Amino acid sequence: MTSETTRSARELWGGHFATDAAPLMERINASIGFDKRLWAQDIRGSMAHARMLARQGIIGEADREAITAGLEAIAREIAEGRFVFAPELEDIHLNIEARLTERVGEAGRRLHTARSRNDQVATDFRLWVREAIDRVDGLLRGLQRVLIDRAEAHVADVMPGFTHLQAAQPVTLGHHLLAYVEMLGRDRSRFADARARMDECPLGAAALAGTSFPIDREATARELGFARPMANSIDAVSDRDFALDYLAAASICAVHLARLAEELVLWSTPQFGFVRLPEAFTSGSSIMPQKRNPDAAELVRGKSGRVIGHLVSLLTVLKGLPLAYSKDMQEDKEGLFDAADTLELCLAATAAMLEGARFDTARMRAAAGIGYTTATDLADWLVRVKGVPFREAHGIAARAVRRAEERGCGLEDLTDEELLALDPRLDPAVREVLGVDRSVASRTSFGGTAPSRVREAIAAARRRFLDRAEGCRFEPGPRAEEAPASGGEGSDEGKR
Ligand code: ARG
Repeated sequence: MTSETTRSARELWGGHFATDAAPLMERINASIGFDKRLWAQDIRGSMAHARMLARQGIIGEADREAITAGLEAIAREIAEGRFVFAPELEDIHLNIEARLTERVGEAGRRLHTARSRNDQVATDFRLWVREAIDRVDGLLRGLQRVLIDRAEAHVADVMPGFTHLQAAQPVTLGHHLLAYVEMLGRDRSRFADARARMDECPLGAAALAGTSFPIDREATARELGFARPMANSIDAVSDRDFALDYLAAASICAVHLARLAEELVLWSTPQFGFVRLPEAFTSGSSIMPQKRNPDAAELVRGKSGRVIGHLVSLLTVLKGLPLAYSKDMQEDKEGLFDAADTLELCLAATAAMLEGARFDTARMRAAAGIGYTTATDLADWLVRVKGVPFREAHGIAARAVRRAEERGCGLEDLTDEELLALDPRLDPAVREVLGVDRSVASRTSFGGTAPSRVREAIAAARRRFLDRAEGCRFEPGPRAEEAPASGGEGSDEGKR
């Protein structure tokens, strides 16, 4: 350690501050409590900057060596928990710079040549968000894998499909689970879009206007793994749309997870009884001994509110800001960090919950027929077999439902006479389409719920989402023509 120690931001700025910061100023101003999470990115950015400065002859080679060695030592101090973060040094940038000067003296004071904290923080934060996107892509892919595996295990298990949360038509559980695989695939592509857009480096924009030093922005951009330097120095230090892109994609993803979680909550009630969540993800009640509460699913549902809140919060912070940097922008970080932590936790918890969930397929099958869910099949049969116009067939099926309701029986339990009385074209052969297995097996249109189609969809989903090494560009699904249904009506009957 040298004798020239700097223990407050004011000393770093030098001359024109005669008084110390008010304690309240320190509290409102300091970001070190949260932006310490940028330490690794800050050190990487400084290394790249110092190497570039030396290559361009702006600092000497000896200074560059001292800076690099000093930053490496600081990285070890932080990683090993030996670094003392000082609030009077405001933020991570000044904390590291002051420590560097403590360690290496004069050379440390040269590092800030041709840059500002404005381009520094923009660079650090972009690096951080980019890494967060790579993490979230891996987690989304992991959740897709669990869903695809579970879909495969339940490819022909029938359950009620709902609209308005009223039993609508039978579907297969595999098909239902694959719906989420598609949503998560689009989430991955949204993050990938965001990543591609933020792949530009702000470093070298300096405070806002660029610099008079002969810097090489292409070199620092390249070294930090960015595709190119940002084109406009004012934009580089003043926009945070990359953070908004992340938060927007995260919010949509959190909403998808919340809907899935809501179904787990609903399906795990004794009234539905479709699923038993792993005990490790539920809790009991201190008063009601019978309870198994789906806490983890409820929290995934509830935590979506935080993520959405952080998006709205940052939009609100930015909307009235004149160009270029204002300190308001320091408010960009806590929310995003929390959104990332929350989303990552929810993704991991959802995957684990689904992995251990046990679906009660007998109960789902029994529920699939409740509520006259094959009434559409009866109408379709009249159209297909008897040439009845669909609107008329719809009316006949509605009368059949009413009759069955009066008798308190299922459609398939109506007698031959009752059917004929409803319409002379309703001969007993119609019964063959009234079972739930027949119903789902007949839905062979592209993207439909027939097990034959769901098998194809599973294979396609593995190719689109799991087989590719680097995961997240938008992968459109197969075209209808390219994926003809392999089986026809009833082809999956009896395969369960
Ligand atoms: N801690 C600040 C932030 O996060 C760093 C940039 C400070 N820039 C400045 N001109 N005071 O925004």
